[in-house]
Amino acid sequence: MEKNDHDDKQGNGYSRRGFMQFIGVGAGVVGASLLSPPLRRPLKAEDVGTIFPASEMVKVRLAVNGTVHAVLVEPRWSLLYVLREIIGMTGTKIGCDRGECGACTVLIDDVPRYSCMTLAVEAENRTITTVEGLMKGEELGPVQTAFVETDAFQCGYCTSGQIMAVEGLLRKVESPSPEEIRLGCSGNLCRCGAYPNIFAAAGKAAQLKSK
Ligand code: FES
Ligand code: FES
Repeated sequence: MEKNDHDDKQGNGYSRRGFMQFIGVGAGVVGASLLSPPLRRPLKAEDVGTIFPASEMVKVRLAVNGTVHAVLVEPRWSLLYVLREIIGMTGTKIGCDRGECGACTVLIDDVPRYSCMTLAVEAENRTITTVEGLMKGEELGPVQTAFVETDAFQCGYCTSGQIMAVEGLLRKVESPSPEEIRLGCSGNLCRCGAYPNIFAAAGKAAQLKSK
């Protein structure tokens, strides 16, 4: 018998396919947490003074959602570009591509980061989590479920980034105050102005995670 969306529905009543279709049609926003320290990669002695030709490819190993991908990249390529165009994970969205909107937010070592402003080579040997990595098999994770249940989007273009910002916040603060939620989401823009429901989703997600 043919499989359909209804067949995919899990215990919470939502399917992965349906959710990704819902938010995946658009997506872009502002992203990284203001609470986070700057991302730094220690330079090695041999790095100093090295000028890579733009076309020279380097091999990096990126640990994304628990799977290590060995990929050839140009040193100038952003993590966002590599995630979407090389690895093929399109849950992370491209909005402004210059650190203004947050649509591209991922977690690097559990901290929200703009992947458009992070070079792929910087992310080597880090733990990278994208919105796909919040799934539990075919079932939505608690933050994704909270966004659905509180109707925390309109066009959905910002939603992947908003979810990752909230996920990062909740990995740092289990039960954030309204002020901490607003600060945690402050790097992510929503052009539809769905902020009240996004903030409500963050509170609901904290409850779901604590169960
Ligand atoms: S795409 Fe807008 S901040 Fe990265
Ligand atoms: S930009 Fe449309 S839901 Fe946020």
